[in-house]
Amino acid sequence: MKINTKSKKVNKAWMNDHANDPYVKLAQREGYRARAAYKLKEIDEALGLIRPGQLVVDLGSTPGAWSQYLRRRFAPRAAGAGGAAAGELDGRIIALDILPMLAIEGVEFIEGDFREDAVGQQLHDLLDGRPVDLVVSDMAPNLSGIAASDSARIAHLVELAIEFSVNHLKADGALVAKVFHGSGYSQLVEQFKRTFRVVKPIKPKASRDKSAETFLVGLGLK
Ligand SMILES: C[S@@+](CC[C@H](N)C(=O)[O-])C[C@H]1O[C@@H](n2cnc3c(N)ncnc32)[C@H](O)[C@@H]1O
Repeated sequence: MKINTKSKKVNKAWMNDHANDPYVKLAQREGYRARAAYKLKEIDEALGLIRPGQLVVDLGSTPGAWSQYLRRRFAPRAAGAGGAAAGELDGRIIALDILPMLAIEGVEFIEGDFREDAVGQQLHDLLDGRPVDLVVSDMAPNLSGIAASDSARIAHLVELAIEFSVNHLKADGALVAKVFHGSGYSQLVEQFKRTFRVVKPIKPKASRDKSAETFLVGLGLK
């Protein structure tokens, strides 16, 4: 395969950033599959969203770092303050991704495209009418580089997460969703504000400054 010099340079810069990234090192030390775990951790520590006993749906879960963090939070007495990756589990985590995910003990997983009705139905059936405490969505589409179609794809996934939350969250439940600054961002904030009593944008330190990604947290359904 022919790789042009520019993309080689970009790859090298990314590899350097990645190797020197403190969150990458921390994730390796603490056994997380991705540095993304620290984004959810920071949001949780700022807002106190995750508590043992909850039912949480993790959308766009692969490779599984957010599910691992949730799983550890649901076993707070085990393995010191960090929680346990196996054994005691007080709570329920349902994870979903279009890609396969290596199993995490106690985490239920649906492999499928969240945009498809049949996959939404599978999740609905698994919930069996039980109301959800928290929906977390780190879903991000493959980007084409064409700004208009990329922002439409991003918005579509966030809208689906909002729709799912309206149908399944408890009245005082919450949604955490990854969004991107740029075109479409303010419309998504408006949609959050129409749906939730309180809306907080949050850019965790673990989210790279260079990245346009940020997170919207909606608290309590209107
Ligand atoms: C940034 S990764 C998530 C990382 C994850 N939170 C973690 O901590 O390991 C984004 C994920 O969204 C998933 N995704 C993108 N579009 C999706 C869709 N339509 N349905 C389900 N998952 C999707 C991707 O396959 C990818 O695994």
